[in-house]
Amino acid sequence: SDQPTFYELVGGEPTFRKLVARFYEGVADDTLLRPLYPEEDLGPAEERLRLFLMQYWGGPNTYSATRGHPRLRMRHAPFRVGPDERDAWLRHMRDAVESLDLPEDQERTLWEYLERAAYFMVNTMDPA
Ligand code: HEM
Repeated sequence: SDQPTFYELVGGEPTFRKLVARFYEGVADDTLLRPLYPEEDLGPAEERLRLFLMQYWGGPNTYSATRGHPRLRMRHAPFRVGPDERDAWLRHMRDAVESLDLPEDQERTLWEYLERAAYFMVNTMDPA
């Protein structure tokens, strides 16, 4: 149909580029989260998260074309994602979402999804 996607409504790729770049600036300086990332260069991880979010919200399907089915819980299984990691992830993401200065309803839609997804990704209840 002619209905714009949420991806288009929030500004398309530049918006997701800004969101994820800001998020990874926070991760780069986070002593709890940074050691979880296996690669020295966070650039590839940044690209995967950006492409996933773009696809999720109705943008191009480049994520699945290059990575296959998301299966995000399975892909996070090698990493310790407890309540503290979740909260740290959400803190950086909150800062990144606010940096976009989106209209309130769009910000809420985006945030509610990210918060739910982060709770869903928790794979251990052991404190850090
Ligand atoms: C990958 C951590 C939540 C989406 C990763 C990686 C780590 C990680 C360490 C591997 C880096 C890489 O090589 O790509 C975490 C932590 C979370 C969290 C600590 C805390 C809750 C989320 C959420 C989403 C997400 C909520 C989606 C909304 C992704 C994606 C990848 C990824 C798309 C790349 C998967 C692939 O194609 O291999 N995450 N993550 N993560 N994460 Fe998370």
